[in-house]
Amino acid sequence: ILVPSVQEMVKEKTITTVPPRYVRSDQDKTEVDDDFDVKTEIPIIDMKRLCSSTTMDSEVEKFDFACKEWGFFQLVNHGIEPSFLDKVKSEIQDFFNLPMEEKKKFWQRPDEIEGFGQAFVVSEDQKLDWADLFFHTVKPVELRKPHLFPKLPLSFRDTLETYSAKVQSVAKILIAKMAIALETKPEELEKLFDDVDSIQSMRMNYYPPCPQPDQVIGLTPHSDSVGLIVLMQVNEVEGLQIKKDGKWVPVKPIPNAFIVNIGDVLEIITNGTYRSIEHRGVVNSEKERLSIATFHNVGMYKEVGPAKSLVERQKVARFKRLTMKEYSDGLFSRTLDGKAYLDALRI
Ligand code: SIN
Ligand code: FE2
Repeated sequence: ILVPSVQEMVKEKTITTVPPRYVRSDQDKTEVDDDFDVKTEIPIIDMKRLCSSTTMDSEVEKFDFACKEWGFFQLVNHGIEPSFLDKVKSEIQDFFNLPMEEKKKFWQRPDEIEGFGQAFVVSEDQKLDWADLFFHTVKPVELRKPHLFPKLPLSFRDTLETYSAKVQSVAKILIAKMAIALETKPEELEKLFDDVDSIQSMRMNYYPPCPQPDQVIGLTPHSDSVGLIVLMQVNEVEGLQIKKDGKWVPVKPIPNAFIVNIGDVLEIITNGTYRSIEHRGVVNSEKERLSIATFHNVGMYKEVGPAKSLVERQKVARFKRLTMKEYSDGLFSRTLDGKAYLDALRI
């Protein structure tokens, strides 16, 4: 299903009311927990400290706790230079600011999910998000769509290529630390993400300001379907909220930190030990917001299921086993609906 550009709609005319297709009376009215204190702050993990030891030291324990109880954390001291991240951010902004004529070449094609557009739109009467996004597969290289990555402006392509490699090495280290904390065998966890066929994709999100921010949703509540996600705020505007103990908790991003979260595939592999948490994007009336999410997943023909050593220890398998291909085919025929897809795979 093809969708219009919200960015263009906001740019073209000063709209004062939201068009019906974006009005979300279906929106979750659950309370937002706005008291900012340590109890409602997502954990902060120091990557340097995490890497300086291989045993269960306190940073590994903190990391393990964050993955179990929050499914989200902010990662500081990740080693990627702030000057490089600034370059990534400014090129993403330039990309969304390209004239529509240019962006049209990258618009989603019928029955494709990559390119500019929105995710999980399956019918004409489905409500839409107050955002434009650009989604594309980065690795393996053979899976890149010929009209997308290879056709991006040259310097942007170079920057994204470098960013992709740097973020992937961060993701791999985090997954290796999970394997230590969970005492799984290499083939049960880190090898799945290390193979040549492992998948990396990116989604850049652009949320325009909205005259009636309470009437819309920037990004529908969902849990991420893949393994591990590394999110970067592209500008200083907040909008990510995560569902914690039945309330929406706003994430206050630390400059230059990554926001990392566990996806459904890691919840399956860890037999439910690490949790994939529902989250959403909200918008405001004054400022645009941009972010980039990098998704890490296992190869398409790999089988995913709870790690056998965890099943033995926990004496229960909580999810079905299936190939990544079967999993993805099931996923993309649905709309986003909280954690409904993961729940369907529970035993
Ligand atoms: C997400 O990708 O689910 C979050 C995006 C955002 O924070 O903008
Ligand atoms: Fe997400």
